[in-house]
Order: sequence, then structure tokens, then C-alpha cells
Amino acid sequence: MKVVVIGTGYVGLVTGACLAEVGTEVVCVDVNAEKILNLQKGILPIYEPGLEEIVTRNYENGRLSFSTDLASVIEGAAVAFIAVGTPPGEDGSADLKYVLQVAKDIGSSMSDYLVVVTKSTVPVGTAVKVNREIKQAMMDRDALMDYDVASNPEFLKEGAAVQDFLKPDRIVIGINSERAKSVLEQLYHPFLLNGRPIVFMDIASAEMTKYAANALLATKISFINDIANLCDLVGADVNMVRKGIGSDPRIGHSFIYPGIGYGGSCFPKDVKALAQTGKEYGHKLRILEAVEAVNDDQKKVMFEKIWRHFDGQLTGKVFGIWGLSFKPNTDDMREASSLVLIASLLQAGAKVQVFDPVAMPEARRELGNEVEWCTDMYAAAAGADAVILITEWNEFRLPDWPRVKTLLNEPVVFDGRNIYDLDFLQKNGFSSYGIGISPRSVMGTIKQY
Ligand code: UDX
Repeated sequence: MKVVVIGTGYVGLVTGACLAEVGTEVVCVDVNAEKILNLQKGILPIYEPGLEEIVTRNYENGRLSFSTDLASVIEGAAVAFIAVGTPPGEDGSADLKYVLQVAKDIGSSMSDYLVVVTKSTVPVGTAVKVNREIKQAMMDRDALMDYDVASNPEFLKEGAAVQDFLKPDRIVIGINSERAKSVLEQLYHPFLLNGRPIVFMDIASAEMTKYAANALLATKISFINDIANLCDLVGADVNMVRKGIGSDPRIGHSFIYPGIGYGGSCFPKDVKALAQTGKEYGHKLRILEAVEAVNDDQKKVMFEKIWRHFDGQLTGKVFGIWGLSFKPNTDDMREASSLVLIASLLQAGAKVQVFDPVAMPEARRELGNEVEWCTDMYAAAAGADAVILITEWNEFRLPDWPRVKTLLNEPVVFDGRNIYDLDFLQKNGFSSYGIGISPRSVMGTIKQY
């Protein structure tokens, strides 16, 4: 089977490479000629563990190819995936201009029955618009052909995208034709090992499923962050609370880790877009508005702790930042909490020196020369008045604390992801702060374990 994937971002490139990996013939298409040229040379636009290997392998064995010209590669394809970006418009709704342009291009160039699948996260009702664009483009060239539209949202996580695609929890497909159903069943058959299901449903429900999943995950995070902030005030330890509530299988342990707010290309954008869809239909999604507001505030929580520790005297202070990307194992800086914190520190007159194992080239585009770029975590701590852990990369998990202490002007640690044992740090002469954890010496209370 031949498949065309339009858009070589996270979703498109991973989809194309992983489908090729199981034997499908795939052409990845993008309007950005430089990106396509680079991909042909094996240079990927993103950092994603394992992706480079499968892109290179499948490019070399001929199952995966790259093109800027949809019209010349669409012939003979059974499926066309639309995986282009849906950036937020001014009101937070998803901007569909790229998706609809691709739909139009498909209608102008297809030559045989085709299943056109939206893989980008798109609001309910988009498939209807995609359908309209395809039909109109066909009518414009007097060539009416059989086709179907389908919605197949992608649930992959950055940093684990290849594994998530190859071993999905489930595949959700919105469809309204038996013919398209059997084409997609055949395409996804290799991924259905160990009883993982394809959940077929109507198109609107599939479109809604993706938003509902991301919105609920974001809700869990904002909920625990809100609880963590209250824990700080009452002297409770959110780590204990997290373990206590997570043991109830109805709640579960995942996605209740407090931190300095969620970032990335999906949660912030999708929560906004779903809230906007609610508004359009006269149904205010009050929970989601709160989820977003709590997250915006959470990105400022660490700055407030720093400000309090230094009694508001931040001018001339130096801060060492460990981690910049919105989460580990990615170089993605979109909506990263680090950017909010760094902006506040600079605004307050502090100096910032940063290290991230992978995201520094990407971060440099945002931060330029405003910060000092360091070669490792210890260089970032050298001469600083405190270190601030922002992204929980594995290599930050077990610092050489005696070394850190000698490097710092003042032994102060702010842990934005609760990966360090704050009591241990206190005992070893550090002042230490987490999110929703108040070490004994700070709270002046005795904790019972
Ligand atoms: C998310 C969804 O998980 C994925 O299914 C969807 O397809 C795209 O959006 P991703 O954006 O790659 O994936 O990152 P994810 O691992 O979900 O983390 C999102 C943010 O939430 C990160 O900033 C992370 O640090 C934060 N987070 C996550 C927490 O603060 N606490 C948690 O317990 C979990």
C-alpha cells in the first residue's frame, strides 16, 4: 500500500517513518523545500529519540521518500494523511488555513479513490470543511472522483513518539464509509499486536476524543499543581498526597506530578482551542478555563519562591538554570516554563546562565544573548547564587552536591520538578525549595512519615 503524508512536523514525520518501518510505501510531503532537502540528507528538523535511525533506514531501503510536490506523488496512493500545523488563531481557536489548503491541493491532484485522513488535531467539524474543499477543487477541474474523509487523531508524546506510534494504547478512527474502514484496518494491522484496539467511531467523536484526552490530562496537572500550592501553605507534602491518592486505581499515579506548569505544542494550544469551541457553541467549559488560568500562574510560582528567598533583592544576582525544554528528551521549547521564569529573572535585574543537554540551539532562537550558555550543569552553577532545576533530564537527577556547593556563591536549590530530596539537601547545608513540599527547617514543623 502507498501512503502520502503531508506535513513533516512531529506528527507527520513520525507517522511516515513508522508506517514505512512496518512495510508501507510512504512519501512525506512538505512545502518547505529546505526541510525536504535536509530530510533527503538524513538531517531531521526535530530531536526525537529513535527517529533518525528509522528515517535513515527506510529512506535507504526505498520505502520512505520525501518530496515538495504533492501532485507528482499522489498517484497510486491509497491514503493521504494531513499532518500540517494548526496554530492558535487570535482567539485561541485552531487556525485551519494549512489543513484546508492541503485538502484543496489533494482535490486538485488526486487521480483515483483515496482516503483523506486528518491526523492534525482539529476541532469538531473540520472533516466537513476538508470534504468541502476537496469536492470544490474537483469541481473546479471537472473531475469528480470517489474518496472518503476520516479522522485519525495522534496521541504520541514528544520524547517517546516512535515507541508511542509503534505500540499505541489504541488507535482512534472516525469514519463514515465501510470502504475507508477496510483500507485503514489494513494499514494499521501491523500495530494491533497484543490486543491493542482500533476504536472506530463517527468522525465528530474522533475529533472530540483527541481534545478530551489532552484536556483531561492537562486538568490532572493543574489540579495537582493547585493542591501543591495549598500543601506549601498548610505544611503538607504533595509527594505524599500524590502517592496517597494515586494508589486508588480510579485516580492512578500518572499525570499527577506537580511542577512549574505544563508546556509543549499540545496542551496549551488544545485546552485553549477546546474552550473556544465551547464558546462558539454557547457552552462555557468552566473547568478548562480554570485549568488554563492555574497553569499560567503555575509558571510564575518558582519566581515567587526565588523572590521571597532573596527578599526581592534580585538585581545583580546570578542564577544557574538546569534544563530549558518543556520536558525531557526533546528540544522543543514551545510554551516552555523556562522562558517565563528566565524573562522574570532578567526583568528583575538578575543574570542567568543556562544548560540543557539538547535544547540549547532551539532555545537560542528565543533567548539570543540575553543569557549565558554553559557547557554543562556545573558550569551553569559556577558563581551562581542558586541553581534552579527546570527540566527533569535524567542527567540532572544525581548531581555531585558537594561539587555544586563549592561552585555556588550561596548553597540554594530551587527544584521545579520535585526530583531532589529537599530534607537531604537541608541537612547538607543547602536551602532548598520544591513545589508543594516544605522541608522541616523551612516550615518549622515535624513531618510524620
Ligand atoms: C501530550 C500528550 O501526552 C499526548 O498524548 C498528545 O498527543 C500530545 O500532548 P506532549 O506534549 O509530548 O504530549 O507531552 P507530555 O508528556 O504529555 O507533557 C506535557 C507537559 O505536562 C510537560 O510540560 C510536562 O512537564 C507536564 N507534566 C506532565 C506535568 O507537569 N506533570 C505530569 O504529571 C505530567
